[in-house]
Amino acid sequence: MANQDKIKRLIELRNQARLGGGEKRIEAQHSKGKFTARERIEMLLDDGSFEEFDMFVTHRCTNFGMDKKKILGDGVVTGHGTIDGRVVYVFAQDFTVFGGSLSETFAQKICKVMDMAMKVGAPVIGINDSGGARIQEGVTSLAGYAEIFERNILASGVIPQISAIFGPCAGGAVYSPALTDFIMMTQQTSYMFVTGPKVVKTVTGEDISVEDLGGAHVHSSKSGVSHFELENEEEGIMLIRKLLSYLPQNNLEEPPLVECHDPIDRVEDSLNSIIPDNPNQPYDMKEVIYSIVDDGEFLEVHRNYAKNIIVGFCRMGGASVGVVANQPNFLAGVLDCDASRKAARFVRFCDAFNIPILTLVDVPGFLPGSGQEYAGIITHGAKLMFAYGEATVPKVTITLRKSYGGAHDVMSCKQLRGDLNYAWPTAEIAVMGASGAIEVLEGRKLREIEDPEERKKFIAQKEQEYNEAFANPYQAASYGYIDDVIEPRNTRFRIIRGFQSLQTKKLTNPPKKHSNIPL
Ligand code: HXC
Repeated sequence: MANQDKIKRLIELRNQARLGGGEKRIEAQHSKGKFTARERIEMLLDDGSFEEFDMFVTHRCTNFGMDKKKILGDGVVTGHGTIDGRVVYVFAQDFTVFGGSLSETFAQKICKVMDMAMKVGAPVIGINDSGGARIQEGVTSLAGYAEIFERNILASGVIPQISAIFGPCAGGAVYSPALTDFIMMTQQTSYMFVTGPKVVKTVTGEDISVEDLGGAHVHSSKSGVSHFELENEEEGIMLIRKLLSYLPQNNLEEPPLVECHDPIDRVEDSLNSIIPDNPNQPYDMKEVIYSIVDDGEFLEVHRNYAKNIIVGFCRMGGASVGVVANQPNFLAGVLDCDASRKAARFVRFCDAFNIPILTLVDVPGFLPGSGQEYAGIITHGAKLMFAYGEATVPKVTITLRKSYGGAHDVMSCKQLRGDLNYAWPTAEIAVMGASGAIEVLEGRKLREIEDPEERKKFIAQKEQEYNEAFANPYQAASYGYIDDVIEPRNTRFRIIRGFQSLQTKKLTNPPKKHSNIPL
């Protein structure tokens, strides 16, 4: 073959590989409202930056006549490129090739990009759209999954790992995304479950649709498996790019510092009146967040799950900050099992990737009741405490209003390594709220008062005395547990200055194999 023909052959092979499962299957993919693996990668990466690996890989299976069915690339597109000029590694499962099902060689392609990403210290983005283990291959496919799982585990806390679910993801295949840092799912076109509706019906008799069992909405609001619910794939692609903009490339780097056009010393007068006079009246913590962060931009994670706590990324003075905030607008901002797990995982992510943590506190306590006790609130609450107590990144805590009981300790208090703890004058820091406290402290006296009016008067007077003594930040400030009581309007620049002063913070945990966080 002449050299020119060899080059022609290469181009032909490349074109063939780019067609994946062929025009018909590509059309079928589009008709479902889905993009192909290559289209997804093209949208995700900076223009022209994609370098593909292993385009010529084919499977080695001979069962069920598979030796006659070989498709270049074998159902997964892999390689590297850049996002905002920074290197990322990607793999996108190609549903047009054997339903995106995972073969031994398919797994090897994914492992290769994961190994490269670890070598160079760059994030990995996986786009999932697959019928799971390639049935014709049997156990080699299962081994392939396990090879990927092991890499997900070892990469955890070293490089950011993001999973986009843009199609089916079922059976044991769900565990690769589950081992990564963030999962996002498209409404109607994606689903995740360990067992599909047909098996569910056979085993338990439960009749349930794919969407209700494992759709984007249930996983983003009920199970918390998914961190983001997307209207469509384009939204997901933009989100991945945005999310990465807050993150370092790996655990040894600092997050990117961007130029800040929002004045650092901007005062926000509205904050001086945001806390209602009635302590039982809610307000929206998101208003506080939006008004103090750079340009009012906040990327909320787990928006529809455990809404009593808010977590997400913002910038302050151009630097990435992870925010954890109680939400008085939902269940009074109480800490329950889901909220504790949600916040704990976020705190650990931030700590692993050197992202300072801002904690905004307005928490009446842990949610009481048998439901929560049986669900293990003790263990789940301990996760959040553990996460904060173990974290070594700079931490600034602002107590806006309530900070009661165990929840006070958990929410990044001074003794759990809070570096700077400020309070607004509206803060109430105590063992419990006034009514509960008077019930306990004055129980005997209350039982003796028979006249309801007199009883009411007595309670009101005792509660007032209690509130005067405890429903303020000054007792905590007198012990130095609160570093300063600040005017709410000055919150933005006090936080930024705080984080700037903590930039050189050095703190390490005692040597150990690993901790034993209460799981
Ligand atoms: C081989 C597969 C496949 C698979 C799909 N295909 N899944 N081939 N192994 N796992 C092929 C189909 O035969 C078909 O080929 C093409 O992909 C498209 O599939 P369709 O069924 O036509 O598509 P659709 O109607 O959209 O249905 C998609 C689907 C369905 C719901 C994903 O294909 C399905 O139920 N697949 C099997 C899912 C499954 O049970 N997987 C194993 C899960 S357990 P042709 O040539 O006809 O177009 C698992 C274990 C992992 O993954 C364990 C890790 C520890």
